[in-house]
Amino acid sequence: MYRVLYRKYRPRVFADVIGQPQVTETLKNEIINNRTAHAYLFTGSRGTGKTTCSKILAKAVNCLSPVDGDPCGECAICKGIDDGSIMDIAEIDAASNNGVDDIRMLREEADFTPANARFRVYIIDEVHMLSIGAFNALLKTLEEPPPHVIFILATTEVHKLPATIMSRCQRFDFHRIAPEDIADRLTYVCEKEGCAIERDAALLIAGIADGAMRDSLSLLDQCMGQSDNISEELVRKTAGLADKTSLLSITDCILARDAAGTINIIDELHRSSKDMARLCNELIEHFRAMMLIKTMKKPRDVLVMSESDFEKTSAQASSMQLSVIISAIDSLQSAYDRMMHGVNRRIEMEMTAVRLCSDSNTSDNSGLEQRIAALEKIIGALKADPSALQNSVQMPVSKPKAPAPPIKKPSAEKMEKLRREAVPMTQWQEVIEDIKKYSRTVAAGFEGSTAYISGDYVLVDSPNDICFEILRKPAQRDNMRDSIKRVTGREYKLGRYSYPDEPKSDDALSSFISDLKAAGIPVTIE
Ligand SMILES: Nc1ncnc2c1ncn2[C@@H]1O[C@H](COP(=O)(O)OP(=O)(O)OP(=O)(O)O)[C@@H](O)[C@H]1O
Ligand SMILES: [Mg+2]
Ligand SMILES: [Zn+2]
Repeated sequence: MYRVLYRKYRPRVFADVIGQPQVTETLKNEIINNRTAHAYLFTGSRGTGKTTCSKILAKAVNCLSPVDGDPCGECAICKGIDDGSIMDIAEIDAASNNGVDDIRMLREEADFTPANARFRVYIIDEVHMLSIGAFNALLKTLEEPPPHVIFILATTEVHKLPATIMSRCQRFDFHRIAPEDIADRLTYVCEKEGCAIERDAALLIAGIADGAMRDSLSLLDQCMGQSDNISEELVRKTAGLADKTSLLSITDCILARDAAGTINIIDELHRSSKDMARLCNELIEHFRAMMLIKTMKKPRDVLVMSESDFEKTSAQASSMQLSVIISAIDSLQSAYDRMMHGVNRRIEMEMTAVRLCSDSNTSDNSGLEQRIAALEKIIGALKADPSALQNSVQMPVSKPKAPAPPIKKPSAEKMEKLRREAVPMTQWQEVIEDIKKYSRTVAAGFEGSTAYISGDYVLVDSPNDICFEILRKPAQRDNMRDSIKRVTGREYKLGRYSYPDEPKSDDALSSFISDLKAAGIPVTIE
């Protein structure tokens, strides 16, 4: 009969429990020194060994000849617990037995001395699911526990437990297991099962499972169902991940502002039935990796990926500004949230990708951007010279301002008059330089633009729309007016030198469509 891997490889002694020395070492010592507690609380993320350790502990306290704190696995008690003939160990699932009566029954039973073993052990799994009444009943027992009873409470959601319960227990926190440790264990399991697994494949499984051993073994199980030679590619395919090249290519397109390119890749992935929310999540991970590469001294230590992927990701990170990366993560995360709320995933993914390509998504974060730009400087300075911190760096703080009126299109006659009297503004480049001081991204939006002065107006002209998108934001208009004032010493109103014929709407759909058109993608609306 086939047994799923995670059952087959459930550790039987503490030594086989990986990545939780803070738990296993302490428990072993307590057993060796005969100093076990009457109530334990095992908490921490799922699939990291809580139930496993409860079972080992239940056996170890009762084993007739424990070996160095571990159950021997051979004596009558160990065997009886394994085959279920000894009834003194009870596992209770609090998710389905959460009423006050369930706990009362347990209390009455707990008063009796054990039939075969030394201790009656009650393992209450998912203990956070108990009702208030049940917690109170349990509390009474925990306050005066019969000497022959041990409670082990296990939960992933410790914050849902009453403080009164927690304070009666010895608490152990189970950690997410390090990717290397998981990979070692997977390699061991593969050896036993007569399979081969690439190191990168094992690390990828660990990364996908986010530190959970059970999920890692389940994914390995699925992979082994397909081949006994487990490669990174097989893992990606089995887990439904986009291959890394797609992620790298999408990012290359974003760097090149090639909206049509991203749409093509997304389309291809969609056709090979890749889930768009998953893709979005993977892009978030990829951008996060770039963020870490840009901010950490030794990013290699925390990023689980193959050497060649790391090199490619680093190359991309070095050609993208930190502020742009962070703002991209932000956009992707919002897109992911919307996908989870039922919007059309494919359109959401495409829309976000096109926006990332146009880069105007960074324009409304000037406050945040200033800080990030300042942080970038600090990090750069510290990397070059660790003593640089002494030359203090000032963090810019944006002051609150009254909202400015929107740019309205003046009447046709007024426009005519303004244009007639307009003279080229010679200090425009200086204004852009001044903007660059607080945001290089915003300044880049004005690349190729020119400006005219006419009366008390500065009229901006530009071959692309990005700068007008930026100027639609009141805060950005304030910044622009401030920069103009700093450079010219005068207050000016802002306007456009020419207006496009068709009216522009703020509506996300129409701006998306114009983004698409700008990217050369034909769009029809039904
Ligand atoms: N630390 C670990 N070392 C080795 N194997 C582990 C470890 N943690 C979990 N496993 C594997 O995962 C399986 C499930 O673990 P376990 O039931 O102990 O997790 P859990 O923490 O109780 O999870 P949950 O919170 O979902 O109940 C085990 O059978 C075992 O194969
Ligand atoms: Mg469990
Ligand atoms: Zn034993």
